[in-house]
Amino acid sequence: MSLPEKLVDKFYHARGAHHAWEAEVTRRADGLQLTIDREFFFHMNPLYEPRLAMQYVVGRYEAAYDALADLKPKSVLEIGCAHGLSTWLMTSYAERVVGLDIGPSRVAVGRHLFPEVEFVQEDWLAYLERTGEVFDVIVSSHGPIIWHDALPRFCKNYINVGYRTTEWAQWLRGSHKIAGRQLSFSTTHWSADNAGTRGKSYWRYFFRRNYLKEARHAVTNGYLLPI
Ligand SMILES: C[S@@+](CC[C@H](N)C(=O)[O-])C[C@H]1O[C@@H](n2cnc3c(N)ncnc32)[C@H](O)[C@@H]1O
Repeated sequence: MSLPEKLVDKFYHARGAHHAWEAEVTRRADGLQLTIDREFFFHMNPLYEPRLAMQYVVGRYEAAYDALADLKPKSVLEIGCAHGLSTWLMTSYAERVVGLDIGPSRVAVGRHLFPEVEFVQEDWLAYLERTGEVFDVIVSSHGPIIWHDALPRFCKNYINVGYRTTEWAQWLRGSHKIAGRQLSFSTTHWSADNAGTRGKSYWRYFFRRNYLKEARHAVTNGYLLPI
């Protein structure tokens, strides 16, 4: 099966992409019965602010998407996928993409907007234990886990996005990060055989809008600067 053109390019990088993206969200939202609850007002909800949601997702997941392009997986699971925009962008990299979140109204939005993704509304570990599936890649970004010892039973590769620490000792040693290849200040790729090294493009992600956003968040909320 051939994969679609890179959605990130079409709806973010291309000239006029934001107009195309707003039109796409409008088309996909047709007929949606919305539940407006507290879960709705989330900066990565494409219905709340489509352009900003796309900008935030692309920035936050950039190193993860680059890793998926290299890994060429057949199956990907995102844990804590919220309204599913980040998961939908993963359909450019894998034939089977599953988005999982415990929040019913978030999953309902994802199901309507992104039928290319298989959505599951369940606790992540309950789902994996119940199905026993092994994914080529599991991704979690600011999700319910950074790491869990059950993960190697259910995936060949695990990508974690999102680290925050207030502890100098952790910050200096990097011990708040999971073991594996550090792809960027925020993103690690674990697999059974990869060494604890930095990825080739590690420093590239510092000079992006997302780094400034994360750095501002850290300063404002009392965390140490992400490195
Ligand atoms: C902080 S949001 C992160 C969303 C997005 N991945 C990001 O990077 O911004 C965490 C998400 O994990 C979901 N979540 C929390 N506990 C969960 C669990 N036990 N199983 C599955 N999803 C869970 C929440 O509903 C929420 O949508």
